[in-house]
Amino acid sequence: MGCSYGENIRITVFGQSHSTAVGVTIDGIPAGERIDCDRLCAFLFRRSPGKGGLSSERKESDTPEFISGLVNGMTCGAPLTAIIQNEDARPGDYEELKNIPRPGHADLTAWIKYGEARDWRGGGYFSGRMTAPLCVAGGVCLQLLERKGIRIEARASKIAGAADPDDMERAIRAAKEEGDSVGGIVECVASGVPAGLGDPMFNGLENRISQIVFAIPAVKGIEFGEGFTAAGLRGSENNDEYLPGYNGIIFASNHCGGILGGISTGEPIVFRTAFKPTPSIGKKQRSVDLTTMEPVMLSVPGRHDACIVPRAVPVVEAAAAIAIYDSLLAIKLGK
Ligand SMILES: Cc1cc2nc3c(=O)[nH]c(=O)nc-3n(C[C@H](O)[C@H](O)[C@H](O)COP(=O)(O)O)c2cc1C
Repeated sequence: MGCSYGENIRITVFGQSHSTAVGVTIDGIPAGERIDCDRLCAFLFRRSPGKGGLSSERKESDTPEFISGLVNGMTCGAPLTAIIQNEDARPGDYEELKNIPRPGHADLTAWIKYGEARDWRGGGYFSGRMTAPLCVAGGVCLQLLERKGIRIEARASKIAGAADPDDMERAIRAAKEEGDSVGGIVECVASGVPAGLGDPMFNGLENRISQIVFAIPAVKGIEFGEGFTAAGLRGSENNDEYLPGYNGIIFASNHCGGILGGISTGEPIVFRTAFKPTPSIGKKQRSVDLTTMEPVMLSVPGRHDACIVPRAVPVVEAAAAIAIYDSLLAIKLGK
């Protein structure tokens, strides 16, 4: 399984949607870094379910418990491991889904790959729940980056094609009422990133960010800077012109999204992530009973977000923070 990420720090995400707990081990954080656990909890709260009328009603406090690596709030050099209890798991909700894969979810591919050994409860390791420990690692990295003047902020820039927040909310409510779901786009900006992070070819900053962003369930696309729009522009429109500055080159624009040749330019890193609509929907869809291979009509029961995009915003920030912190350490380590 590909449960670990990073070259200079190594994060490993463990647990499943309905196991006792989910968690993360972060290896390689330098000793002597203070971690503000209150701020970390506030960050995790942005991702947690059970808020408002639009997200999943699963109630999880999402409080991380550090079981190693932290002494009096300070990293000690040992691997940092945090667990989050699964307090409101209801595997019974999924009993009828055991042998009926939800269209659009990873139930089918989990069955293809792991057969009867798979954890079918709530999507197992493929659940959106796994983004809680990802946010612990990302929340830690965000704090460390902030000390170096690097800030990362994301927002839902579109939901169901709408850019206006009221229209976004209306689209989610309409989908929910119809037992359906909608997707959207999360835009993320990392400012203060120094020039020179990333390597050419296979280890560029775009590659590294994309690799971890695709670990977020339901992500189907990513674009940097003008992204797919650049394909329709002229070079004169898309190129970022250079001007002489007091302390080096100044960019007249940032169409490239802060990365050229896989290496950061020093301008803000800008990328957008496309999230598909939540697979679990109440609307009836065709599926197959894996034990009998008979066709069945499936209306997914249980507690699901009609749109995961609002909850995915901090997850994208977390993923970007891990990738950028990992790349920053490469420079400090002289790689
Ligand atoms: C924060 C978050 C919450 C999610 N919640 C749900 C959910 O309630 N129901 C669901 O079917 N999918 C949910 N997903 C998406 C699925 O986990 C995902 O679509 C599935 O694992 C298949 O993976 P893929 O879409 O990346 O191919 C969620 C994703 C995220 C990021």
